Amino acid sequence: MDARIVLLPGDGIGPEVVAQARLVLQAIAARFGHQFEFQSHPIGGCAIDEFGTALPDATLAACRKAQAVLLGAVGGPKWDDPKAKTRPEAGLLKIRKELGLFANLRPIRVQRQLVDASPLKKEIIDGTDILFFRELTGGLYFGDSGRNPHASGEEAFSTMIYNTGEIARIVRMAAEAARKRRGRLTMVDKANVLEVSRLWRQVSQEIISKDFPDLKYDVVLVDAMAMHLLAKPKEYDVVVTENMFGDILTDEGSMLTGSLGMLPSASLGSPGPGLYEPIHGSAPDIAGKGLANPLATILAAAMLLRHSLNLETEAKAIETAVDKVLDAGCRTKDIASGGPSLSTEAMGEKVVEAVKAK
Ligand code: IPM
Ligand code: MG
Repeated sequence: MDARIVLLPGDGIGPEVVAQARLVLQAIAARFGHQFEFQSHPIGGCAIDEFGTALPDATLAACRKAQAVLLGAVGGPKWDDPKAKTRPEAGLLKIRKELGLFANLRPIRVQRQLVDASPLKKEIIDGTDILFFRELTGGLYFGDSGRNPHASGEEAFSTMIYNTGEIARIVRMAAEAARKRRGRLTMVDKANVLEVSRLWRQVSQEIISKDFPDLKYDVVLVDAMAMHLLAKPKEYDVVVTENMFGDILTDEGSMLTGSLGMLPSASLGSPGPGLYEPIHGSAPDIAGKGLANPLATILAAAMLLRHSLNLETEAKAIETAVDKVLDAGCRTKDIASGGPSLSTEAMGEKVVEAVKAK
């Protein structure tokens, strides 16, 4: 297969982890006889420095022409000034919106080798395997917002807005996924307070009873879900929710696995390229030191092969390689529990070796 993959390394540790994922993809191409063409483009803070915008037109145009996009991370203290005209995060939001990536898949799977790296008790997390569907192009992130003068100074507002179509398409996608997994779908909202959540509940209920009566479906309020995730994570299979609830719950969920450095994500819409990235951010405090864990980005590359290139065997080959490397005791600092650790590059090399060894 010939495929064009755009790399958006971004800021902080982004370039370091994307470089390792690229080497792993190259090893996959060599082993399975594919041709992957890679193109790197700027996004985020580095793009602001060079072009004055977090998402240059040329970057977006290249992404549109690619089969898939692999992103590192954006942001850092250098661009954090609240008065700045533009921020690195704006580039990320814009690319999600422009590419129509309404579904953000975030698998939270506790890797058995790392069960002791989590701050939570082993009995609670062992065997956890949740797939989050976070809505990604609506809600508070994209609703009307602004400021007005106010007697006390100023007022500010952000609007949470969703329409039936936006809710229906992600609920359907999540329901299809649940059907292929353990058959349980949980919809998370705040319907006891928010009108927008009551629409989510209504639309989901209709879709599930009409087209997915075979699923075990339930609804949970977001505050309760924050608690259940820590108390009984094993009970959940597929979870679907709106943009901001999903942002918060998946960061919380990542702690079940011990490190944010292990978790990949896929942002999909249709048609057009998918965008794959680690859940973690740019980690400016460890950037350039070879301390970053490249496994989340490497696992994001596996999701890229699976979802955008339809290469399931190749995706599994990466996941198996990561498993082997962890079995062999290889750890980066974030998952080493104080023991010996490998650099970003050394960890990437271990995965490449494991891919080559079959
Ligand atoms: C994420 C991040 C982003 C988000 C930020 C960087 C804008 O936290 O992908 O979860 O809130 O969506
Ligand atoms: Mg987040």
